[in-house]
Amino acid sequence: MTDSPNQSVLFNPARIGAVEVTNRFIRSATCEFMADDDGFVTDRLVSLLRGLAEGEVGLIITGHANVRPDGKASPRQAGVYDDGFIPGLARIAEAVHRFPSRIFLQIAHAGRQTKVRLSNGTPIAPSPVYEPEFDLTPRELTAVEVREVMDDFIRAARRAREAGFDGVQLHCAHGYLLSSFLSPHTNRRTDDWGGTTAKRALLAVEIVAGIKAACGPNFPVMAKLNATDFLPGGLQIEESLEIAGLLERAGLDAVEISGGMTEAGRGSVWQGLRAEEEEGYFVEAAARFRKALGIPVAGLGGNRTLARMEAVVREGRADFISLSRPLIREPRLVADFRLGRKAKSDCISCNKCFNPRGVSCGDLRISRHIPTKK
Ligand SMILES: Cc1cc2nc3c(=O)[nH]c(=O)nc-3n(C[C@H](O)[C@H](O)[C@H](O)COP(=O)(O)O)c2cc1C
Repeated sequence: MTDSPNQSVLFNPARIGAVEVTNRFIRSATCEFMADDDGFVTDRLVSLLRGLAEGEVGLIITGHANVRPDGKASPRQAGVYDDGFIPGLARIAEAVHRFPSRIFLQIAHAGRQTKVRLSNGTPIAPSPVYEPEFDLTPRELTAVEVREVMDDFIRAARRAREAGFDGVQLHCAHGYLLSSFLSPHTNRRTDDWGGTTAKRALLAVEIVAGIKAACGPNFPVMAKLNATDFLPGGLQIEESLEIAGLLERAGLDAVEISGGMTEAGRGSVWQGLRAEEEEGYFVEAAARFRKALGIPVAGLGGNRTLARMEAVVREGRADFISLSRPLIREPRLVADFRLGRKAKSDCISCNKCFNPRGVSCGDLRISRHIPTKK
């Protein structure tokens, strides 16, 4: 390790908008697959998120919660499309706030990257561009429906605030609905919501401004954004930087940089990382956003070694370090880093954590012969 971890810049507080985060570690949104079949919060989900707060994660971002019933991406995903979800969500905020951690709800709509069975009808998108992985052609939203989607996101943020969350993260990455509006590959519209960069960004921009107006300036709005879709004709970093600037001017408080979409065959969750040189695979992209923007930036993707994370923040390539899979395996990792008990996550990026019966480390299950929870 470079320094004594207690003195590391990673354990200095930093702000996202009006909210102070006690350290530089973010639990990147991770679908827990632990809500009930109707999207309501369960004891198991509360307990998992409480465990991350106990493990000293500065900012916890929940798995994506769908803002409309037709925006469901996976089974046992939490919903936030009705006021009836507020009491369950409030249990999460209350459990996390027993510790110094902060918690943001990730609000999302699956768009064209879902199954007809989950969206309960033909999935929606900016344009009817065939999705090869799900083998479907989505239904194009009318201009009136785009405004409805906008209102659904704003209402979802208002519910998160009422439930006691400290902020929200807009899921504008990975090919889901907001990402598909940003991407020239999936957005072929010629009305107000497509065409130029500014028009493709308009839905996300209006949502940011609308949440600020509805929830007040002290309720932070963060976005997870693709630096690139990894798709010819898709979003590239130069355009994404321009979009981030537009979102910042609309009131965005922070951005987390990711990449990929399903049909690109390259998503955000890269498998089989082993070498230290492979760590932080979106961090160099994040550094470009940090240079261009005045808001905090989170560096993501395969962060595993404490000394490397420390260098990223110390050298100003990102303000925060985001972790997903390591915290599935080791919910106490941040506390262990602080106490000098660990210098690297044990996560081997095998991706066996994607368990629709509840996220858990597949490598640990196999090595300890722990049966999958039914
Ligand atoms: C099981 C699992 C579920 C995920 N769910 C989400 C999600 O709901 N929203 C999201 O933006 N990213 C999601 N991701 C992607 C992670 O946030 C993160 O971007 C990616 O795993 C890379 O970080 P890591 O190398 O630290 O795991 C998920 C990843 C995993 C492994």
